[in-house]
Amino acid sequence: MGMEKGKGKRKGGGRVLIVDDDPLVRGVLSDIFYNVGGYKTDVAADGFDGIEKIKNNEYDIVFADMAMPRLNGMDFLREIKKINPSMPVVITTGIPSIDMAVNAIKEGAQDFITKPFRIDTVISIADRITGEKKLLNKLAVKDDYEASVGELKAELFKKLQEIGILQSISTELDGLCDNKEIFERIVAMASKLFMVKEASFGAIENGHLKIKGSIGTMVKDISIANSIFENVIKKKTFCLASLGEVNPHNGTLLTSPFLSVPLTMNNEVFGILNLSNKADGTAFTDDEIRFALTFAEKAAMRIENNALYEVFYTNLMNTLKSLVISIEARDPYTKHHSERVSLYSLQIADVINLGAEDKDAIKFGGYLHDIGKIGVRDTVLVKPGMLTPEETTEIRLHPVIGYNILEPLRFFPNEMDIIRHHHERFDGSGYPDGLACDKIPLIARIAAVADTYDAMTSSRPYRNAMCHDAAIKELKRCSSSQLEDEIVLAFLQTPAGKGGARLSLERTTH
Ligand SMILES: [Fe+2]
Repeated sequence: MGMEKGKGKRKGGGRVLIVDDDPLVRGVLSDIFYNVGGYKTDVAADGFDGIEKIKNNEYDIVFADMAMPRLNGMDFLREIKKINPSMPVVITTGIPSIDMAVNAIKEGAQDFITKPFRIDTVISIADRITGEKKLLNKLAVKDDYEASVGELKAELFKKLQEIGILQSISTELDGLCDNKEIFERIVAMASKLFMVKEASFGAIENGHLKIKGSIGTMVKDISIANSIFENVIKKKTFCLASLGEVNPHNGTLLTSPFLSVPLTMNNEVFGILNLSNKADGTAFTDDEIRFALTFAEKAAMRIENNALYEVFYTNLMNTLKSLVISIEARDPYTKHHSERVSLYSLQIADVINLGAEDKDAIKFGGYLHDIGKIGVRDTVLVKPGMLTPEETTEIRLHPVIGYNILEPLRFFPNEMDIIRHHHERFDGSGYPDGLACDKIPLIARIAAVADTYDAMTSSRPYRNAMCHDAAIKELKRCSSSQLEDEIVLAFLQTPAGKGGARLSLERTTH
């Protein structure tokens, strides 16, 4: 039984099992449950330990970490459900996402919470779950049967509706990366879920609610001053306008209540969802308002994820692009080389009909292919003359250096094939891994042809640029040894291979 703590201070607590590989988290949660919630607690350091404890003890709730070694939270959840299908499990996670929440709920989790934990959230979830459990137990007592069934039905209904909201938000918004689409979808879903004839979503910008999507109403941007929105922003919660007040959508008098709920990011209201004109003509119930707040919260989470991802991705792309520019600035002979390799590779991809995903990888990967040169000394990189064997070894490190720069980012898995393998040779005599034939990723074989052609037709300090015809002759000579002949043949059919495309990009004429 081990580490169980004693009786809690509050009356009516149950027994909680905390499963987390981090002793600090176990300690914090244990303290919260015991000292604040009045629960008895027990801890397990991983899923297997947790399973053993569940087999041998009685618990009211299990709080399990999502990311654990040996048995992760989802597998642990499945195992628990095999032993005791009605055991309430709450999943804890450091990375909140609606997908994770929905998956956990689909697998039978009761709820999920994100780290760092808020004491009141942890306790209220535990209290709610033990409350529901008591309600279920009451069902067994005949006297209270009718009342209990009624209460239980109402609880179940609320729960189902909330889970429904979570699931529909996830499925509806999945795969949408464009904010405009997300806003429009949020409005459409809200009008369906809350059965209103009028709905709008607006973002707060310069004292106005900039309408990003609306249904059932032709609504333009609305000034926030002295409107219902001012209150929503100030109070950071919903506001209701009643019959006879002004409809913010169109300035007429309201004939049915108008509900505004905030969408927040970092505790600041950034958008407002408006619902009005319920199809059945009734007022909004407390439950509906609560659902509207949950809906807005989940939608805000999705928008925030999207915004963070976009900002992060754009920043990252820009940083990498400036790195490439800085490398090319060190070596004026290679100015625009990366752009041209990207362009020629894309032209080859067109000829051989590659799919969109490969083309994306080629476009950015072609641009980044020499990014590892950032780790090569200037004296070697721009040396006028032939390189010594040591210098050759140093410059040949650049594919691996580039790979090592990008690998931890985990953002460009396909692009990395080009970065690492653009100097592999079809006959296996290239570097860094000596791969041959189709062991070399296709997009790297393509980039190799583009890179070779551009290198030959660019000037170097120690030699002049080859003319197009001579370079093509050389490419054909290297077919099947250094380069794949089919890719060379494809290159010959591209605008660049026909000698035309170079005009479109500036070249240095040293
Ligand atoms: Fe290279």
